[in-house]
Amino acid sequence: MHVLINGSQKSKSSNSEYFLEYISKNINECTIFSLKKDSYKNIISSIKESENVVMAFPLYVDSPNTVTICFLDYIYDNNITINKNIYVVINCGFREGEHNITALNIIKNWCKKVHANYCGAVLIGAGEVAGNKKYQFISKKVFKCLNKLSNDIENNIVSKDMITTVSLLNNKLYCMIANIS
Ligand SMILES: Cc1cc2nc3c(=O)[nH]c(=O)nc-3n(C[C@H](O)[C@H](O)[C@H](O)COP(=O)(O)O)c2cc1C
Repeated sequence: MHVLINGSQKSKSSNSEYFLEYISKNINECTIFSLKKDSYKNIISSIKESENVVMAFPLYVDSPNTVTICFLDYIYDNNITINKNIYVVINCGFREGEHNITALNIIKNWCKKVHANYCGAVLIGAGEVAGNKKYQFISKKVFKCLNKLSNDIENNIVSKDMITTVSLLNNKLYCMIANIS
């Protein structure tokens, strides 16, 4: 069983949720939790029963967003050991997925502290476009990387850090589409 955790603070239609739902279609037996709606107690007890954990969240000011940080702090402050494989999906507003690298380093550091086994990530640029079904045709690389990550999760293998940028759009066009999204 795999536990998928959505750290977005949006109550509905978050990009993180969209990416997790995509992954869930490619792996067997998984449950998606929301850090905003579900209790930490339920999430942590499911993590303990699981093989792998996938954390998806948005980038807020170059870091994981507050909802995600609160959860990471709760685990660390309460000395909860997460000796599981952790896969990560971070999406940001800017077009270039590289903006997510600092946030990923925060997660890697947290993994060391809670004895989790960091196993790879997809860092998604232009999240407001890639997370919208209408624009999937210009975000093919994102879904290729999510397929690779899903395959590695399903086979319990260490993945790699993959970075995506929506290169077909220039900044002006991207801002227009992102604002519509
Ligand atoms: C308060 C706030 C801070 C943000 N900071 C950044 C940032 O530093 N860099 C960036 O590229 N996007 C930033 N964004 C944009 C979000 O990462 C982006 O909209 C993301 O797609 C939201 O994902 P979600 O739908 O999963 O919540 C920020 C958004 C908000 C609301």
